[in-house]
Amino acid sequence: MKKIILKTNRLILRPILPDDFSAIYNYSKDEEWGQYFNPHTFEHVENLVNKWVSSPWDICPRFSITLNSKVIGGTGLYIDIENNIAEIGYSLAKEYWGKGYITEATSEVTRWGFKDLKLYKIFAKANSENFRSLNVMKKLGMVQEALLKEHNLIRGNRKDEVLYSIIKDKWLS
Ligand SMILES: CC(C)(COP(=O)(O)OP(=O)(O)OC[C@H]1O[C@@H](n2cnc3c(N)ncnc32)[C@H](O)[C@@H]1OP(=O)(O)O)[C@@H](O)C(=O)NCCC(=O)NCCS
Repeated sequence: MKKIILKTNRLILRPILPDDFSAIYNYSKDEEWGQYFNPHTFEHVENLVNKWVSSPWDICPRFSITLNSKVIGGTGLYIDIENNIAEIGYSLAKEYWGKGYITEATSEVTRWGFKDLKLYKIFAKANSENFRSLNVMKKLGMVQEALLKEHNLIRGNRKDEVLYSIIKDKWLS
């Protein structure tokens, strides 16, 4: 599958580049940004960016979200080709929260996933306390499908994870 650029009213989503590392590291080392994850150290972010940059686009299309050419966040899919479903991931630099940018970006990726990639289902997972993230899922029309009790070990504490999803037919209606 050929890499593509997606456009929304305010944003351009373009394939992630190795040079995006510093922008991603700078926003993801913020304490409030990372409160629901284990620390996003330099090495952790470096590994993530390397993975996103080098993974085949067919299974891991990852976009940097740009506003006036500046990288302000990222979103992408982890595609399970055999089952024709995908997990969506997303993040945004804290200074851009509360402006609807992530809902705008992930709505476009969801549209692309259903209309162009013809996926059957798109899902997302988050720490059950990450209300901003749950809010994004609800605005995408997703509904809660599962609660994974004490699923993740975050900073030494067991945390519940929730899984939300939407099926293509529901998204179309
Ligand atoms: C999760 C995360 C991306 C959510 O970001 P966000 O800015 O809260 O989400 P949105 O871009 O959808 O913005 C939502 C708010 O913008 C406001 N807003 C302002 N202008 C808007 C506009 N033009 N259009 C839509 N919403 C607008 C809305 O009031 C909305 O809040 P509401 O839904 O409570 O009414 C962000 O908190 C983040 O990056 N967290 C750290 C990483 C993370 O947790 N990622 C998810 C892992 S599961």
